[in-house]
Amino acid sequence: MTNEASTSDLYAHGFRVQPESRGRLLRQTPAILWFTGLSAAGKSAIADKVEARLHACGRLTYILDGDSVRLGLCKDLSFTDADRHENVRRVAEVAKLMADAGIVVLVCLISPFRCDRELARSTAGKHNFAEIHVHATLAVAEARDPKGLYRLARRGAIQHFTGIDSPYEQPTAPDVFIDTCSTSIDEGTDIVLNWLDGH
Ligand code: ADX
Repeated sequence: MTNEASTSDLYAHGFRVQPESRGRLLRQTPAILWFTGLSAAGKSAIADKVEARLHACGRLTYILDGDSVRLGLCKDLSFTDADRHENVRRVAEVAKLMADAGIVVLVCLISPFRCDRELARSTAGKHNFAEIHVHATLAVAEARDPKGLYRLARRGAIQHFTGIDSPYEQPTAPDVFIDTCSTSIDEGTDIVLNWLDGH
């Protein structure tokens, strides 16, 4: 016996207001910008500036950030591989619902596994989806260490830390690649906005 509903027992109601009408109301095309990369690579810093620029142009946006969703929606999840899969799955579903609501959604999650990022793309369905790899070498991310977490992980005070004792699978064909070892946050912001303009 399981508590999960069987999909054959579920019936999607044909609601009258569809995602396209909401986009028209907001005068924008929803999109999901999925920022992936090591902790301290610069995902949130770039997403913050991208959102500020979009907001200033009158776009309705929302940031789903790992550190924030893990305080609420995902507060029952740890950093084991299984819990990271579940973390990404939940956030991908929320991002899809927000895009259905007409919003430009910026997701900042390490999302270290390729299969999960692929799942996020397929969950997005027909919405515009960009996998944005915010790259920094481990050495650079570790030298930045704004939260002091790499230091704790090296000391063994935190387990399963991405890049130290938990893997990060590099994207092989991201839609956007930003190397923050050689690119400033402002330049990275322009790269993302240019991608959006083109789509
Ligand atoms: S993910 O791997 O499941 O996508 P997520 O982006 O939600 O990770 O959370 C990453 C944030 O949690 C990091 O920015 C960091 O502040 C914090 N954190 C705490 N413990 C860990 C850990 N073991 N590995 C990575 N990040 C951690």
